[in-house]
Amino acid sequence: MTMIIAHRGASKVAPENTMPAFELALRMKAEAIETDVQLTKDNIPVLIHDEHVKRTTNSHGYIKDYHLAELKKLDAGSWFSKNFGGATILTLEEFLQWMVNTPLHLHLELKNNKIDYMHLEPIVYELLSQYKVADRTTISTFNPDSVQRFSQLSSTIEIALLTSRKINNLPRYAKELGAKAVHIKYRLLNKKLIQQCQHENMRVRVYTVNQFSSMMRCFRIGCDGIFTDVPNKAILYRNLT
Ligand code: G3P
Ligand code: MG
Repeated sequence: MTMIIAHRGASKVAPENTMPAFELALRMKAEAIETDVQLTKDNIPVLIHDEHVKRTTNSHGYIKDYHLAELKKLDAGSWFSKNFGGATILTLEEFLQWMVNTPLHLHLELKNNKIDYMHLEPIVYELLSQYKVADRTTISTFNPDSVQRFSQLSSTIEIALLTSRKINNLPRYAKELGAKAVHIKYRLLNKKLIQQCQHENMRVRVYTVNQFSSMMRCFRIGCDGIFTDVPNKAILYRNLT
């Protein structure tokens, strides 16, 4: 069955990567949450999609130039709607403290393809181990070097290579890096790729799938998961198959 993964939480109805978005995803019965992680100046992993705070907070500047204490003062909800004015940027640790008491699977995307944060992999790995969620976490990244680095750290955590580009025999390429899954942009999905994945024993998941017809295609073709901003709709549509 195709797993329904709430992309940045239930990001259609709440500010992405914040507690309200994650709580709503759980309430909508999503099976997993996808979130993005970057590193502060004091090396604390925090959940935010962009390298810069401009789009999703009331401030400006790069995450890498903020200490956590300063980042925590920012409003990460009002840009979306004034109803979410109290939302803050979460640390990965705050998220894990919440997640351990839920049945959710975590898709943690290392945002290290633009800024290759030093030591991001061991810092994240340490936290996942500490909270004992490694067996229900998938690490993903667009950065092939990071796939290799993470797979050297851990042979048990599932690692996925993310791509929005066409790569010749993608599953084999990803497998050689140490990945066990490929996460592809919807337009790259086709039957041949699914067959290649089956042949290499690689999982395949697709982002970002919000429309009825594309969801149904993913379910029918046999994707292992879809990342969606509307997990409530995805659960409903999957029940039709
Ligand atoms: O992990 C799937 C998806 O989140 C990758 O793209 O830009 O939404 O982080 P993006
Ligand atoms: Mg992401």
